[in-house]
Amino acid sequence: MGLKVLTGIKPTGQLTLGNYLGVLKNLHQYTEDGNEAYIFIADLHALTLPIEPETLRTNTIDIACFYLAAGLDPNKCTLFLQSSVPAHAELNAIVQNYMYMGELGRMTQFKDICTKMGIAKDAKDSHVGLGIFAYPVLMSADIVLYDADIVPVGQDQTQHVELCRTLVNRFNHRYGDVLKMPKAVNNKVGAKIMSLSDPTKKMSKSDPKGDIFLKDDLAVVRKKIMSAVTDMGSEVKFDPENKPGISNLLTIYAATKGISIEDAEKEFVGYRYGDFKKAVADAVCADLEAFQQRYRHILETKEYEKVLKDGAIKASEQANKVLDQVKNTVGLVTIK
Ligand code: TYM
Repeated sequence: MGLKVLTGIKPTGQLTLGNYLGVLKNLHQYTEDGNEAYIFIADLHALTLPIEPETLRTNTIDIACFYLAAGLDPNKCTLFLQSSVPAHAELNAIVQNYMYMGELGRMTQFKDICTKMGIAKDAKDSHVGLGIFAYPVLMSADIVLYDADIVPVGQDQTQHVELCRTLVNRFNHRYGDVLKMPKAVNNKVGAKIMSLSDPTKKMSKSDPKGDIFLKDDLAVVRKKIMSAVTDMGSEVKFDPENKPGISNLLTIYAATKGISIEDAEKEFVGYRYGDFKKAVADAVCADLEAFQQRYRHILETKEYEKVLKDGAIKASEQANKVLDQVKNTVGLVTIK
């Protein structure tokens, strides 16, 4: 029997090569083999940090186009906007009562954001928004609404899925077997693409220096790869501790080509760093060129509009089933 698959991307900033190689590029694989896939744009999540309305709108449409450009067939999956399925916000209001502030405060992403913004982690006196603190609550609602078996994500989101599992355990312990237990799955290669300017840090939407953005001009992409930070020595070898820069570029190459790190390493025996970087740039640019062409076509034809409209209806059908069951379970009266 097929599995239920769910994942989302939030339209906070321009998507990076990390988002692409970490999850987007291989998503279509999960829509094969009789799986039931729900793929969405986490637009409500994007409001957890300050964002201009116009930027949010542009990023949202971009992600819809990116999903399609990455090969997702809307006939084989349900593609939708989180905010077009009200069940997400409703279930959020219920499940927040089964998650603890201590748990939320321990999330690495929350702590990193506080550090970056220079705000205190202790909620009491700081100006940290409630939404960013409670982020994993809404994310848990997103997941359980679709009875998801698996949640394909990059490494940085695994901790949030683990917290969702804690919620499911707690809820089911109290009420019986109501919520489905999800599991995070990471790509074998590419689950954590690092910054090109500091390969000890994750490539993220908010780090313009070390990022490759999916809409970057290909000449810019090439330049960024050619000037990526490398390491001491001259051997092209996968050794994240001692050679984080080269290891990151090997990962980027392997994930782009869909091969293992070992096979990528074999291709570059005896290469100098400069020639190796050129090969990485060639591979990434070839892949992005085709991807960007598809993206532009989808954006122009507005193909995403009908997809998102149909997706909202299909997603709501599934989500409302779980929402009704949860409401009934906790004792909320539904009058039909
Ligand atoms: P977001 O929008 O930050 O990232 C989208 C996906 O890209 C992955 N990713 C990376 N993978 C590899 N290397 C990187 N440098 C890199 N940076 C990001 C992320 O792990 C993610 O899979 N909270 C989610 C959105 C979300 C969600 C959900 C995901 C909301 N509800 C329910 C799954 C299930 C997020 O902010 O992802």
